[in-house]
Amino acid sequence: MFKVNTNYLKLKAGYLFPEIARRVKAFSLENPEKSLIRLGIGDVTEPLPKACCKAMHSAIEEMATHDGFHGYGPEQGYFWLRESIAKFDYQLRGCDISPEEIFVSDGSKCDSSNILDILSSNNKIAVTDPVYPVYVDSNVMKGHTREANEFGQYEGLVYIAINEDNNFVAKIPEESVDIIYLCFPNNPTGAVATKNQLTDWVNYAKKNDALILFDAAYEAFIQDQSLPHSIYEIEGARDCAIEFRSFSKNAGFTGTRCAFTVIPKALVAKSLTGSEIDLWSLWNRRQCTKFNGVSYIVQRGAEAIYSDEGRVEIKKLIDFYMNNAEIIRNSLTKSGFKVYGAENAPYAWIKVPKSMNSWEFFDFLLNRANVVGTPGSGFGSAGEGYFRLSAFNTLENVEQAMYKIAKM
Ligand code: MLT
Repeated sequence: MFKVNTNYLKLKAGYLFPEIARRVKAFSLENPEKSLIRLGIGDVTEPLPKACCKAMHSAIEEMATHDGFHGYGPEQGYFWLRESIAKFDYQLRGCDISPEEIFVSDGSKCDSSNILDILSSNNKIAVTDPVYPVYVDSNVMKGHTREANEFGQYEGLVYIAINEDNNFVAKIPEESVDIIYLCFPNNPTGAVATKNQLTDWVNYAKKNDALILFDAAYEAFIQDQSLPHSIYEIEGARDCAIEFRSFSKNAGFTGTRCAFTVIPKALVAKSLTGSEIDLWSLWNRRQCTKFNGVSYIVQRGAEAIYSDEGRVEIKKLIDFYMNNAEIIRNSLTKSGFKVYGAENAPYAWIKVPKSMNSWEFFDFLLNRANVVGTPGSGFGSAGEGYFRLSAFNTLENVEQAMYKIAKM
């Protein structure tokens, strides 16, 4: 009899967002007359930038000719896109990252999970609590944990609580871990880390021979000029960090799919015999075996993000969503909620009324205001008592949602 990967059986319930979708569907079936405002999953609503569309159109035209046709592309991504990324996202910010160190992919969610392919199962892994659930679930699937305890925390992972006391920025642990996932601007709390805080993490990683998996999918939403956008703005990070970036949120590519991961050539790990192995080569080997690259058309679209026209449009998109975030933050604060985030991130992290837990507040909001959000407890036990609202929607919907919540 064939066997399944029983690690999947350890996973708690469904993945958060499908579970929300299931509850929302049930509500809609029972209340077909109610129209819902969805501020739950962080999915963008604004159309693709015109510069990207134009570039994709002309890429399609090229593909329709013998001369312009492209079959399999390089597994690492086309060099012209990697060059633009290296220049605009890193070199112009003073980061020493070369195009060769960039691997174009179809998403940060996939990459932050797939990276485990090249890492040993014997690492001590730390995550924050609350946390983007993908980091935890993909470790469970790989068999890096035992069962979950009564709080839903998996034995074998190190959880670092982020809360109001530490401004939702993980404190350096006393113990030594091998791998730590950090996400700034943070999903779900919207918290940001200063240069000093990231420097502490880089120093910790170097001291403990640890690897930082840095998820910067929301960096474009940073408004405060003093905050770092990349871990590589911190001295020494080339030796201890991998960074994940995405075009999903800044350029509306959630459905188009394009992202990238940076693996500096300086990054080395130890084999079991103590010899040094560079991660770049392992990831390159992994990608060449398991991945055939992102389509030429989509990569041309992504390249256009860095054109003069594209950069102007991206700025407008970010301003648009951050205006929504400000409306959410101000309106909820006025309604008496304690609100975190939504200043340098598209997520507001709200303290729910004491009489309710996160899922109860989810139901309350759904029934009373017909607004869908995300229960904080879905991101980990320390998220209990909180609720996340996303700024990704139309201005009209955001205003309407805030009006309904204020009235409620
Ligand atoms: C979220 O809502 O947390 C995001 O949409 C998740 C993701 O980007 O995968």
